[in-house]
Amino acid sequence: MRIRPTVESDLDKVLSCTVTAPVSWADPDRYRRFLADGSYRPAHTWIAEDEEGRLLARAVWWTFPAGDRPLALDCIWVDDSVADPAALAAELLTTAHAAFPAGELPEYHLFLPPAWRDDPAVLAAVEWRRDVAARAGLTEELERLRYEWTPGAPVPADSGRLVFSEASDEEFVEVFRQVAVGSLDDDTRRGLLRLDPQVQAEETLADYLRMPGDRSWWRLARTPEGVPAGFALPSANNGGPVVGYLGVVPEMRGRGLVDELLAEITRSHAARGAARIGADTDFGNTPMAASFDRAGYRNFGVRLVLSGPASAV
Ligand SMILES: CC(C)(COP(=O)(O)OP(=O)(O)OC[C@H]1O[C@@H](n2cnc3c(N)ncnc32)[C@H](O)[C@@H]1OP(=O)(O)O)[C@@H](O)C(=O)NCCC(=O)NCCS
Repeated sequence: MRIRPTVESDLDKVLSCTVTAPVSWADPDRYRRFLADGSYRPAHTWIAEDEEGRLLARAVWWTFPAGDRPLALDCIWVDDSVADPAALAAELLTTAHAAFPAGELPEYHLFLPPAWRDDPAVLAAVEWRRDVAARAGLTEELERLRYEWTPGAPVPADSGRLVFSEASDEEFVEVFRQVAVGSLDDDTRRGLLRLDPQVQAEETLADYLRMPGDRSWWRLARTPEGVPAGFALPSANNGGPVVGYLGVVPEMRGRGLVDELLAEITRSHAARGAARIGADTDFGNTPMAASFDRAGYRNFGVRLVLSGPASAV
């Protein structure tokens, strides 16, 4: 048996497997699209083969088209003929992890229906993958609620409670730093465990600049009296427009301003004719989830994120 990253000439082999379990997977259409834009790469697709070169297992990682390191595992597949699929998949992930550039382990993202625990087939498909991920060091688990706005849902009018304006990168870094304090968002909290708050805010800026959304859409929010309140940062990913990021500074929380920021983002995308706006928030970020519900965003699924311990850098 041999475990290795793929090369361009492996494409047919890479596309030859099919996941029949009811979990998200890198199907051939998705694989080709993401390969074309650089989100998937041969070097971030690892396989296990037998002595005759027959495909036994495959793991596909995603990254930003402009990124240099794999950021999230999208798919694990193991051939039915393998006696201990979890052991082989764990070996595949562990070998690839060791070859990736030093730093945080790439997460594993599973896209699931909202009530996924109630469906035995989905639960079974998740359980062995979760076990594999844990054996490869991805021991932390987080559920994110996936929301979408479609044109049937309302486009809220501007209430005038906040005034929106463009701002410099430095101003956004400053407000990202403020908003991270007391955040219920897991990624932000983990970032603050390993980074100085200023560096964490600068990394947040760099991450959002890398996304395909337009920088000119970003807005700072103040009260009509000029008191800083937060920001609204509409963005986009490979799938189209997304809510991106929004935040209320700690002193202004608990006044429902989250709804004003989300409304600004919805208006921004709707004015450009968006057919869909995607959004994710952590299961535990209850004020954010409640705001999506109030704004007519539909919770259509769950993103299960498996990751390494925050200190594993
Ligand atoms: C999520 C967020 C935008 C909510 O803003 P908000 O305008 O304060 O929300 P609401 O006014 O609707 O708050 C509803 C309730 O949640 C509480 N709440 C809001 N943010 C909270 C936080 N970070 N921690 C604990 N409680 C919070 C409010 O105090 C209020 O409580 P109450 O009902 O007892 O009065 C804000 O917490 C924030 O900026 N968080 C950091 C950034 C973030 O998570 N963005 C979303 C990423 S997807």
